[in-house]
Amino acid sequence: MQKNMADMRRTVQETAQYLEGQYTWSHPDVHRLHGSATSVSIIGQLYGSLVDPNTVWDDLSHKTAEAEVRASAMCAELVGYDPDKALGLFTFGGTGTTLYGIKIGAEKAQPGLFNDGLRQPMRVFASDVAHYAKLSSTAWLGLGSQAAVSVPTTEDNAIDVQALEKSLRSAIAKGERIAAIVVTMGSTDAFGIDDIEAVHALRLKLVQEYKLDYVPHLHADAVIGWAYSVFNDYDFAQNPLEIPDAALNSLKLVRERLRHLSLADSLGIDFHKSGYTPYASSLFLARDAQMLSPIRRDKVAMPYLFQFGEYDPGIYTLECSRSGGPVLAALSNLILLGKDGFRGMLSHCLQMSELMRKKARELPWLTVLNADNHGSVVVIRVYPDNVEADSSYRIERSDAAQKATLQAHNDFNQAVYMRTREMAESGESPVFVQTNRYRDTPYGMPIVGIKFFTLSVFTDPESIDRALDALRKAREYVQRQNALASKN
Ligand SMILES: Cc1ncc(COP(=O)(O)O)c(C=O)c1O
Repeated sequence: MQKNMADMRRTVQETAQYLEGQYTWSHPDVHRLHGSATSVSIIGQLYGSLVDPNTVWDDLSHKTAEAEVRASAMCAELVGYDPDKALGLFTFGGTGTTLYGIKIGAEKAQPGLFNDGLRQPMRVFASDVAHYAKLSSTAWLGLGSQAAVSVPTTEDNAIDVQALEKSLRSAIAKGERIAAIVVTMGSTDAFGIDDIEAVHALRLKLVQEYKLDYVPHLHADAVIGWAYSVFNDYDFAQNPLEIPDAALNSLKLVRERLRHLSLADSLGIDFHKSGYTPYASSLFLARDAQMLSPIRRDKVAMPYLFQFGEYDPGIYTLECSRSGGPVLAALSNLILLGKDGFRGMLSHCLQMSELMRKKARELPWLTVLNADNHGSVVVIRVYPDNVEADSSYRIERSDAAQKATLQAHNDFNQAVYMRTREMAESGESPVFVQTNRYRDTPYGMPIVGIKFFTLSVFTDPESIDRALDALRKAREYVQRQNALASKN
């Protein structure tokens, strides 16, 4: 049967129906961990579909291969790596970047692993608020998800370096090898930033003290935080972009930790988070290309590829086919925005978050959970009438005798959040996220929070008012429902 234009039009319309209801990421009222993609990055992604380069090898990607090298070098320079030595590979998501980091570390911990398979237990150390990518990676790499050691965090959601030291010593004493220490540079919920400088120094101390025959790999999960590297050389004193004080102070604090990012042996960057591209555009960056040698496949295994040409990343990559779209999307933003463009966008979002924190602090029925963090995310916990939010939270999170109260308030927050979702369906509420476990209490209970991750550059003060107002209305609704239920 012959297909004609009408068939094509119908098909396009039919598939378009599947887009209905999808969030408009650039909308001022969407507060989720995905930035609004710039037009140029969408076009970059589209080039990937139209021309369809495959970055496995330059025979299939031609000059898109160069784009990958260029984007990687730009990012290397941004974070403080030597662009001539560093090597970047775009991969399937932030999870992929962590997978690469741990894989390379595991090869250091057991040379020959790539061909021989695992001969001894290995551990991966990351904080208890690190993304579950650490679990996916250890599980999929065959180390077992139990190989991931969860290290407690301090109140600012950063890894507790003393606790890390204790865990590392215990593993070394048992003869376990360390595949990687993964620091989180911007955690998923709270934007906690690990003290990479201290972790790096700790690693050196332990290598020397125990005379380890390898240096455990230090990987930075910077998929959210990387973009703040644009402030490494910002002139905070002159403040040429006239960033308002509150946001400027937060940025200074963020920079304190992020400026040491280059201490990581490898790191992950997500352009689809704080880099304003469409999903998924993730870059794994190794400080030194040599680190990838242990994961080189023998060319004999790939007789159909790599007979000639100058760029053959497919020799190392997990994937065979890799679209050039994410590379071109990322490069487009790096070129278009430059440091000042990113600074403007990120500082705007941070400004909005600061405004939300300020307004939230004035409301007695909620408390801000991540008060010690400084990214563009605010995690809120709401309370019913007659409960003083700040003090109630302080007590229930530290006193195990308050377990039932904490649970009741967890349920309350879940109900309020679900109500905002219902309201959002009819346009009465902005869109935000619930976290089932902002963090655990010291007595092991999860703390539920409501999270506003502001990454849309169109979010304005009115959007912040709308968000808090929707929360207020949802809370009142749930209280009314609860009152009715207790009468019946
Ligand atoms: C800190 C962190 N690391 C890794 C990931 C995983 O990224 P992806 O969803 O792109 O695989 C996320 C996702 O939210 C994250 O927040």
